[in-house]
Amino acid sequence: MTPTLKHRLVRLRDIAMKALLAAALLAIATVAAQQVDLVLPAPQTDGGKPLMQALKERRTTRSFAEQPLPPQVLSNLLWAAWGINRPDGRRTAPSARNWQEIDVYVATAEGLYVYEARAHGLKRIVARDVRAQIGAQPHSREAPLTLVFVADEQKMGNADEESRRTYAAADAAFIAQNVYLYCASEGLASVVFAMVDRPAFTQAAGLKPQQRIALAQSVGYPKK
Ligand SMILES: Cc1cc2nc3c(=O)[nH]c(=O)nc-3n(C[C@H](O)[C@H](O)[C@H](O)COP(=O)(O)O)c2cc1C
Repeated sequence: MTPTLKHRLVRLRDIAMKALLAAALLAIATVAAQQVDLVLPAPQTDGGKPLMQALKERRTTRSFAEQPLPPQVLSNLLWAAWGINRPDGRRTAPSARNWQEIDVYVATAEGLYVYEARAHGLKRIVARDVRAQIGAQPHSREAPLTLVFVADEQKMGNADEESRRTYAAADAAFIAQNVYLYCASEGLASVVFAMVDRPAFTQAAGLKPQQRIALAQSVGYPKK
């Protein structure tokens, strides 16, 4: 083989490799895009109030203005709550044995979604307002956003019933505290609540038998 021919073959191989890589990346991007119905803006992971100030301001507020949360605020809130903060896929909140069994359901006037941390987007569950089915207290339907923390017990290995309940409650509570602190930092109102209408939300969200509702949390701008 002449040096020129060898050179051409090497170039051809490089072009073919690049084309294959581009096709693979395109395929991955397409799959990632298909996983969610709503891609959120990239979260702003710097700034905010100093931690000690946010802790001083953390509180429960049960009355909300109607104003919806802008997409950037929703993105930051969900990332703070339960986003991925390390290259190995671990999250802003701890979880027992890193099971990551909590799904964050996101209820707004437009519909019910589930937060997909890897794609940092929302997957639509139903295209209608189910906020009134989350609880009897007025805040769950009055706040522009109510989050429902649902444990998927299928992800909890062979833990016994008591451990599953305890770990799921603890893991949901860490997420709720992240939400409270983000709200304190951002001047948002929030209330975490356990009094969820479990049968009504289970039906509205089409939850499976292995999915257990742990807590819910309403978020919005405080009523003036
Ligand atoms: C596990 C848990 C369950 C709660 N359930 C409800 C509830 O169902 N409804 C409600 O209005 N508030 C609920 N809260 C909010 C508490 O009432 C509130 O945190 C408490 O009054 C203290 O107020 P603070 O959060 O401003 O410190 C709950 C809080 C926790 C930690």
